[in-house]
Order: sequence, then structure tokens, then C-alpha cells
Amino acid sequence: MQKGLRILITGSNGQLGSSLKRAAGNYPYFHLTFTDMEELDITRFEAVDAFLKNGSFDAVINCAGYTAVDKAETDEAGAFRLNAYAVGHLAHLSSLLDFFLVHISTDYVFDGQKNIPYSETDQPSALSVYARSKMEGENEVLKKARRAMILRTSWLYSEFGNNFFKTILNKCRNGEKLRVVFDQTGTPTYAGDLAEALLKILPRAMEIKKPEIYHYSNEGVASWYDFARCISIFSGYPAETEPIRTHMLPNRAVRPAYSVMDKSKIKSCFGITIPFWQESLIKLLNSDKI
Ligand SMILES: NC(=O)c1ccc[n+]([C@@H]2O[C@H](COP(=O)([O-])OP(=O)(O)OC[C@H]3O[C@@H](n4cnc5c(N)ncnc54)[C@H](OP(=O)(O)O)[C@@H]3O)[C@@H](O)[C@H]2O)c1
Repeated sequence: MQKGLRILITGSNGQLGSSLKRAAGNYPYFHLTFTDMEELDITRFEAVDAFLKNGSFDAVINCAGYTAVDKAETDEAGAFRLNAYAVGHLAHLSSLLDFFLVHISTDYVFDGQKNIPYSETDQPSALSVYARSKMEGENEVLKKARRAMILRTSWLYSEFGNNFFKTILNKCRNGEKLRVVFDQTGTPTYAGDLAEALLKILPRAMEIKKPEIYHYSNEGVASWYDFARCISIFSGYPAETEPIRTHMLPNRAVRPAYSVMDKSKIKSCFGITIPFWQESLIKLLNSDKI
């Protein structure tokens, strides 16, 4: 085990960044520096150059992202500035300053035409501006970074920020009726599980000599309807839930109908086991975190 690694986390007030902060106590041998937009805006290249040159980091985990999928449809420039060009700059610096870059990407890079899990060798084909910006971010890392991990994840939820899980839970607690799509299939991923896995595999991942893509989500498969039903049942606030089709919602961005990811590569390379999504959900609901 490598000790004393200096690691910078960007976008650290978001779901994954906050989960990394929470998990950090289990990894006292890492020197973790957490920054969000105010301390380090990753779209301001000169500030990023100065911060990284002064910091001599061994690794950077980029949790910053433009994650408003529908808003991105009318703010292409904003989505690309953060999800593609800023990532390209980090990738360039990772080669220049020789740090290992971990970049978080998404299942939405796939178009959902398959009906068996997507592997890392499947060709991305983005359906939305958000997805194109993330795909471009991946390409930038593949082109410009010497040592990097692109970690694609899906349907992140947590006790932090705003997310589907919290919205549904609040509605259930308020006794509201739910209408949730049943024609999009993927896998919910508890950000706390992803954060733990990331910190656990990081020292070995840093031995990777070229940019590599890995998939990480919780185990199992669900529709958003299934996810909502489980939140409502397991929380003890059973809510009437109507399954609806995607076209019945006014969302601007097109989502893949199927985006389950195959996680064999990350499991076999790093010897990790991944919790089943329902077990992680129950654990969170039974915790004092919410
Ligand atoms: N959420 C999902 O369902 C999902 C699914 C698959 C993949 N991902 C990917 O996973 C990563 C983490 O997602 P998340 O859910 O943790 O995102 P999040 O909760 O939206 O957090 C993103 C963070 O980035 C920060 N940020 C925004 N602009 C920035 C800038 N210019 N410089 C530095 N920080 C900036 C935000 O700060 P403010 O809050 O101050 O704006 C926020 O703290 C993203 O790359 C996302 O694309 C997410």
C-alpha cells in the first residue's frame, strides 16, 4: 500500500465529492485536499495551473461536472466548458505535471439500443448535449492524459444535494402520489459506495500506465419506477405510484432507454465486490444520514 499520497478533489461539494469527504476518515494515509468552485473553478485555466503547480499532487479526482441534463440542452456552451474543455485542460496538466487523473463519466454516453449490459469496449453514441459534453470530456482524457482512469457511473444518489432519491423520499413522506417512468432501465448507484470503491482502488489504479475506462455502478438492474417503488416501500412510506412512459414527461433531453453497465473489468482488475443496489438503498434508509 502506497502511503501519504497527495490527492486533490475538485467539485467536492457535489454528491460524489461530499461522499468522498465522508469516506476520507477510513483512509488516513491519504492527504486529501477538497476544493469546490469557490476555491478552484476548473474552467479558469490560469488558476488551475497555479493551484496544481503549487500543490504537487499525486492524483486528482475530478468530481466537478455540469450535471443538469435538461438545462444543458439550452446551454451547450456551459456544459462543454465544464464537462469537456476544463477536463481536457486537467488531462493536459496531468501529463505535464505527472499526476494521475481520475475523471468521472456517465452511462449516458450510450444510446440505449442494446439490451445486454454495456462494456467499456462498446461504442459511445450520445443522445443529448450533456451526454455529448461528457463524451467529449472522455475523448480529451484519452487524447491528452498519460495516466488516467475514466470511471463511468450511473444514476447517482446520496444523502447530499438534490437527487431522485431525495425527491421521491420527500414526496412519499408528504403522502404525495408518484408518477415515474418505467421505460428507462439502468442501475441506481449510491455515491457512498462509489466513493469507498474509488479510494480503495486508487493506489493500484495509479499504476495504470495509460488512460483506461472502467464501469462502476451498484449491482443489479432497475427502471426509475422500480427505484421509486423501493424507496417508498423500504422507507415505510408506501406511496401510490403510477408507471408512466418517458414521452409523458416534458423533459428536454433524450435519455437512453437502456444503460446498464457491465462491471466485470473493474471487479477483476481490482478484486472488489459491489453491493446490490437494493441493499445499499436499505442501508441508507436505515442510517442516520437522512
Ligand atoms: N448525478 C448523476 O446521476 C450522475 C450519473 C453519472 C455520472 N455522473 C457524473 O459524476 C460526476 C459527479 O456527479 P455528482 O452527482 O456528484 O455532481 P453534482 O452533485 O452536480 O456536483 C458537481 C459539483 O461540481 C461543482 N462545480 C460546478 N462547476 C464547477 C467548476 N467550474 N469548477 C469546480 N467545481 C464546479 C458543483 O459546485 P456548485 O454546487 O457550487 O455548482 C458541484 O459541487 C459528474 O462528472 C457527473 O457527470 C453523475
